[in-house]
Amino acid sequence: MQTLLELAQGPLFRLTFAIMALGLLRILILDIWGAVEAYRKAGDKNIPWGQAFRKSLAWLFPVGKAFGSRPVYSLFSILFHIGLILVPLFLFAHVELWKSGIGLGWVTLPKDWADYLTLSTIIFGLALFIGRVAFRASSFLSRKQDIIWPLALIVPFITGYICANTGIAPAGYQFFMLIHILSAELIFALLPFTKIAHCVLMPLSQFVATLAWRFPPDTDEPVAISLNKKGVPV
Ligand code: HEM
Repeated sequence: MQTLLELAQGPLFRLTFAIMALGLLRILILDIWGAVEAYRKAGDKNIPWGQAFRKSLAWLFPVGKAFGSRPVYSLFSILFHIGLILVPLFLFAHVELWKSGIGLGWVTLPKDWADYLTLSTIIFGLALFIGRVAFRASSFLSRKQDIIWPLALIVPFITGYICANTGIAPAGYQFFMLIHILSAELIFALLPFTKIAHCVLMPLSQFVATLAWRFPPDTDEPVAISLNKKGVPV
């Protein structure tokens, strides 16, 4: 067990983390490149940066619009995402691992906050999973991965919580720690190839859309002809 743990904490961690970082970087570069290309070809180069910034904030903190149509689902999803983002990045134990590995550390969550966020992520992740299974037939979420992700994402939270809070015997601790690390690494390795990759694109999505969705020059006439509106004042 000790050897497996060392393998998971060392080479496997470096490999899966590199796959995630490079995979996400590739998506980011391709997206920005595509938007810049579209902008270069566009006729209208006037970019409403302020509007794109406001839209990005509305996407990142979807209070209002999203709450209006599906308030419970939106609330659960936001509460799920808060722990999902904050705990892996700012948990004291994780930051200590980074410190010992690469010598870099940063602010950490107080222990009780980490525990509450962990529990809320588990509860809201389960609620999202149950909701998606229950409403599968009527939902637009038809792909299996949409249903499985909330469940897969809470495995490291459940196992991390057991290790950090239950005082189990050393053999049990090692077992749950191994599942903790392996489940996290599976998520790292799959992340760039699934819909979860939206985590890097989300903050930029409105800027990319604003840059990319512009008509190339000389499109006015063909568009007017195809709509049978040539010569009609707009
Ligand atoms: C998706 C990635 C990950 C998530 C979501 C995650 C989540 C968690 C959570 C929720 C806890 C317990 C928090 C608490 O209530 O105190 C925890 C503890 C811990 N995690 Fe992770 N983790 C992730 C990846 C990793 C990786 C890759 C490693 C090691 C290479 C790791 C090592 C640890 C350690 C050593 C602890 C502390 C256990 C203790 O206090 O005894 N985690 N993690």
